[in-house]
Amino acid sequence: MGSDAETLRPCRWTGRALALLDQRALPEEVRWIECADAGTVARAIREMVVRGAPAIGIGAAYGVVLAARRAWRESAGRWREAMEDELADLAAARPTAVNLAWALERMRAAARRASGDPAEALLREAQAIHEEDIAANRRMGGLGAKLIDGRCDVLTHCNTGSLATGGYGTALGVIRSAWRQGKVESVYADETRPWLQGARLTAWELVQDGIPVRLLADGAASFLLGRGAVGWVVVGADRVAANGDVANKIGTYALAVSARHHGVGFMVVAPSSTIDPDCPDGGAIPIEERSPTELLQLGAQRVAAPGAGAWNPVFDVTPASLVDALVTERGVLLRPDRARIRELLAASPAA
Ligand code: MRU
Repeated sequence: MGSDAETLRPCRWTGRALALLDQRALPEEVRWIECADAGTVARAIREMVVRGAPAIGIGAAYGVVLAARRAWRESAGRWREAMEDELADLAAARPTAVNLAWALERMRAAARRASGDPAEALLREAQAIHEEDIAANRRMGGLGAKLIDGRCDVLTHCNTGSLATGGYGTALGVIRSAWRQGKVESVYADETRPWLQGARLTAWELVQDGIPVRLLADGAASFLLGRGAVGWVVVGADRVAANGDVANKIGTYALAVSARHHGVGFMVVAPSSTIDPDCPDGGAIPIEERSPTELLQLGAQRVAAPGAGAWNPVFDVTPASLVDALVTERGVLLRPDRARIRELLAASPAA
């Protein structure tokens, strides 16, 4: 049992389509968007209807089910080739979160194994990806909570909860588990400019859980850490390189520098599907840059001086040397590095 937010699933298969909780409308409105084809799923990912690395991968997996259904209906003899354009569209929807490419590769492998009408087999694979993510989050919740000693406040960034995943959450999953164990006094949540995932989404989830949450402007985090008020900074990841460098929401790097400076633990929580063994280090991670308009305006309202431009990278890279703990469903790595990550990935998933 858990609160509505804890058990919320932002991606739902309706039996004939993918329903996505429109995260752009939260917290004002709970609105679902039905995607009946892969193109609509790709657009929903691009436009942030669904966001958060694992949730993007899960949405794309269901998108492949829709693509295969159409391809089989229209050209049963060559359905695999007939869905290639849609798969490419899904893959290109957002570049940084590796869970997207990872989920598409799993769906391609399932497509290679399928015989006859592939719809059922692909739906089973998408649902397995979804269920495995929730199970991984629950396991990481327990492993991460163990690292928190005593009772403290924690600081988190962006939204890493049920909304960003199959359900329960990565960093927010750890916070949920630690709260249950009486280890969390309260949560500070960065508002997370410019999409305000912290203010709109993390606060929405935590309030529903009854976990005390205070927002802070992103720029206030170092001041807070300097006051000794926070026991751990707990964040998610969009891609972890083979050497342990971590791409996550813009502002994460500054938090890691500040946490190290002030002697506060810095914990990254991510399922192994977020680790990219083919990416040697953070310098090779593609960093998404979004429209300057997202900074120049607040919603539809212009806030910047007319004539000003803007640079809007939406992720940054934290060097592995600043990460105290990497929590995955396969285990915890203290001070992750290339060798430890290789060992973790080589271990059996059930280990
Ligand atoms: O741009 P977003 O909202 O998709 O970014 C999300 C994040 O950066 C999260 O911290 C990350 O995906 C890890 S959450 C499971």
